[in-house]
Amino acid sequence: MPTPTHEALAHSARVVAHIERMIAASGGWISFADYMGAALYAPALGYYVAGARKFGPSGDFVTAPELTALFGEALAAQFEGVLAQLPGSSVIELGPGTGRLAADVLSALAARNALPERYCLLEVSPDLRERQREHLRDRVPDLLPRVEWIDVLPGHWRGLMLANEMLDAVPPHLISRQDGAWFERGVESDVGAFRFADRPLGDGALRDAAKACFPPDGDYLSEINPAAQALVRSLARRCEAGALVIFDYGFPASEYYHPQRNSGTLMAHYRHRASDDPFSLPGLADLTAHVDFSAIARAGVAGGMSLAGYATQARFLINCGILDALASRGEPQSAAYLREAAAVQKLLSPAEMGELFKALALAKGIDEGLIGFRDGDQGHRL
Ligand SMILES: C[S@@+](CC[C@H](N)C(=O)[O-])C[C@H]1O[C@@H](n2cnc3c(N)ncnc32)[C@H](O)[C@@H]1O
Repeated sequence: MPTPTHEALAHSARVVAHIERMIAASGGWISFADYMGAALYAPALGYYVAGARKFGPSGDFVTAPELTALFGEALAAQFEGVLAQLPGSSVIELGPGTGRLAADVLSALAARNALPERYCLLEVSPDLRERQREHLRDRVPDLLPRVEWIDVLPGHWRGLMLANEMLDAVPPHLISRQDGAWFERGVESDVGAFRFADRPLGDGALRDAAKACFPPDGDYLSEINPAAQALVRSLARRCEAGALVIFDYGFPASEYYHPQRNSGTLMAHYRHRASDDPFSLPGLADLTAHVDFSAIARAGVAGGMSLAGYATQARFLINCGILDALASRGEPQSAAYLREAAAVQKLLSPAEMGELFKALALAKGIDEGLIGFRDGDQGHRL
């Protein structure tokens, strides 16, 4: 991992002290979900709440909308059809990052004469909120009156809800089975350093969930994410009519809990380096786990929506016309075209973001024939 500045290390030390106090207050052990929740979201301290630069070349990771505006343009092609069915409705984006995706989607919808009544951004980070405001002010000043920042999920929503790379940031529990016995893997502190510690896991929802999806035998460790499922169930329950569209990296349960994937999917990211050590640089490193799309689809259906489609990100974007949009980006040998083509290649290539990243849509009260899933819908695999 690259060496952080003194200031960044001092910040991480404050995050460590905060988590140590949590562990002490809980009798010496906290769940991994609580550890990750604090490392990412502790007020004024957590990775997503405090002011480190997270996105882009000088940050920790690059997301699809940061690569090219064609991602947002492709989404707008899908959104137009849904918004046309629900006049006066809104788009709500969860975890909007730098605001780039919002600007791209709004510009593309304006060009299609298909603007939503409102575009709402739900953001937990005060500094990202400010960054989003600046970005939208620069890019789409005329559309700013339609944009609104919200602090909590709305009681009811009608239109489109969008989450790109947000569910992977919802803290999971770590559950293991060793010699036939069940454990929850949590975190202890030992003179300024964190370490994993397993505790026997009694009967209850976590054990039932692990029993239902882990392979039938053998030692095994993976994540179970009730918070991500509860979030999607709650979003679905609050939907009056519309579509919830989720992009993230992950798999159906049969792949997520494959016998060979026996140590889970947890990753830390710092300055474009990935590590499997979640205790390195708390508060400075992003922590993520892949998404179990089967569980997410089930949660949405339990909340009253239906599965409208599940496909690789590459298939979804191609169905939404990303290649045609690329073709309209100038002369094939021009620098602008080549830059966009390289970004689209990254989005679509099976070796990059094309296959590991998936699109999942849930719908209610609309025609569910979404164009993004016209070809290659793999909903049957969930
Ligand atoms: C990896 S970033 C993705 C940002 C952006 N969607 C993009 O594609 O560039 C994850 C985002 O999810 C947000 N987030 C995480 N948990 C959230 C929650 N429970 N509610 C709302 N936003 C959340 C973070 O603040 C951050 O903006």
